[in-house]
Amino acid sequence: MPVIQQNVSLQSFNSLALPAEAEFFCTVRDRAELRAALQFAHSRQLVVTPIGGGSNIVLAANLSGLVVHMDLRGVSHRAVGRVIEVTFAAGENWHQQVQSCLEQGWYGMENLALIPGSMGAAPIQNIGAYGVELSDLFVSLNAIDKLSGEAVEFDRAACQFGYRDSVFKNAARDRYLIVDITLGLTTQPQINIQYPALQAAVNQHVRSAAEIGPELVSAMVCQIRRQKLPDPELIPNAGSFFKNPLVTRAQTDALLQRYPQMPHYAQADGDSKIPAAWLIEQCGFRGAVRGAVGVHDRQALVLVNLGGGNGAELLELAAELCDAVKQRFAIELEIEPRVYGAD
Ligand code: EPU
Repeated sequence: MPVIQQNVSLQSFNSLALPAEAEFFCTVRDRAELRAALQFAHSRQLVVTPIGGGSNIVLAANLSGLVVHMDLRGVSHRAVGRVIEVTFAAGENWHQQVQSCLEQGWYGMENLALIPGSMGAAPIQNIGAYGVELSDLFVSLNAIDKLSGEAVEFDRAACQFGYRDSVFKNAARDRYLIVDITLGLTTQPQINIQYPALQAAVNQHVRSAAEIGPELVSAMVCQIRRQKLPDPELIPNAGSFFKNPLVTRAQTDALLQRYPQMPHYAQADGDSKIPAAWLIEQCGFRGAVRGAVGVHDRQALVLVNLGGGNGAELLELAAELCDAVKQRFAIELEIEPRVYGAD
């Protein structure tokens, strides 16, 4: 049985370092502990909220019920034809596993280096960066139904992955606890340096394409991220605070008439993705400070806690940015991390 504590501060369990308390809190290290925690919650009719690395949540109030820190560990693998299927327990750290797979000679995760958070949280928002999304590597995951305690397996189709989206943000929201995920990696590197900033960084380091290996790709991704994104250990943040909005072709064309320099990335369906950072920057918010919270000065998509900020202040700043972008561009920004406690 895991130790269950009451009125526990979650400040060190969320990368924005927002002050909030869990009514009940426990850390689970394996499935048996998880089941025991669920039974405890069930017997007292407590809502169960899982927490992983805490790097994609906004705590805007105390959490009632039981907060379960998902710290299940372990990695196993099996060869399936030319693919190495690696199963990671939910509590393993994403970046450490990217590095460890690279050392083993198992490739595919290198563009996703240095993303904060845990393996179990990665499918919820279908983490993605530098031209690769988790869904590109995904094989399956195992989860436990919070209510029935039943084990359920999800394959890729069942996860309904989209841009920063999955079934776990929609129809299956709040229903399952992800206990492990399986990714399909390869021993034969497949280099993907389509993303312009990555291509530019790689080209500075090599004379010929033959020199480009996954280790270099991973190192360059880390370099770019360190240049742009604040280290949550030093400046608390939750990465991109908004999704990049998708805008119809007609609206994109109309906006380009007024803002010919607007960056836009055409999607297969004809819509365009507009960088939310650009929209925020155009409204003059890059580096803006509101009390103890602000907009990062090197990446306008990242909101930061400058020290002592709380969830309400952060959401107020987010609302100010949304209003400004809507007024000027008629585009609605959507908050990307999961917000708890702001009804
Ligand atoms: N830009 C600005 N101002 C800025 C920053 C960026 O105008 O302050 C514009 C530029 O035009 C730039 C473009 O935005 O070329 C793209 O910028 P960047 O490469 O930094 O990517 P992003 O769209 O801001 C997305 C993801 C990141 C991911 C990077 C790299 C979302 C919501 N964010 O950011 O993911 O690391 O691409 O692939 O899709 C996260 O989700 O937490 C995250 C960090």
